[in-house]
Amino acid sequence: MAKRKTNKEKVIDLLNEARASELTAILQYMSQHYELEDADFGKLAAPLKAIAIQEMQHAEMFAERILFLGGTPTSIPDGKTVKGEEIVDLLATDMGLESGAIEMYNHHATACAELGDLVSKDLFETILAQEEDHWSQFDNVHGHIEKLGAVYLATLAGGDAEAGAAAQ
Ligand SMILES: [Fe+2]
Ligand SMILES: [Fe+2]
Repeated sequence: MAKRKTNKEKVIDLLNEARASELTAILQYMSQHYELEDADFGKLAAPLKAIAIQEMQHAEMFAERILFLGGTPTSIPDGKTVKGEEIVDLLATDMGLESGAIEMYNHHATACAELGDLVSKDLFETILAQEEDHWSQFDNVHGHIEKLGAVYLATLAGGDAEAGAAAQ
């Protein structure tokens, strides 16, 4: 019979599940900002690059906690990178990733508290707030495109993709 997991091992599993979702988001947002830069939508590429870098920080924060607890941080993303989407669909993809993270981190924060690990709970809450902000940023742009279409898309053309990253 398999040995029952300790609370610490259960928390490590929750942190690794979150890290795997961060790795998916990093790869997805990097791929999108390269595509957008290539299509000369620099003003949309810039915030996507900035958000990708925030997801990298999240992946590191989860890894540090996993290592502190004696676990091994996963290197395997939990999803595939979608390529070549229209901008409105790309934003819907990203809102889906953020919604998934928001739901997962809300759940995992509570689970960590129940497992007696308030530091991991706090980590989930801190990162959760940033995922809500990402969702909101994607929702704003998505909403503008749905209402204004090509007129709004035209305002996103050109610009320097480095600008968003520099603002971090
Ligand atoms: Fe994240
Ligand atoms: Fe996010």
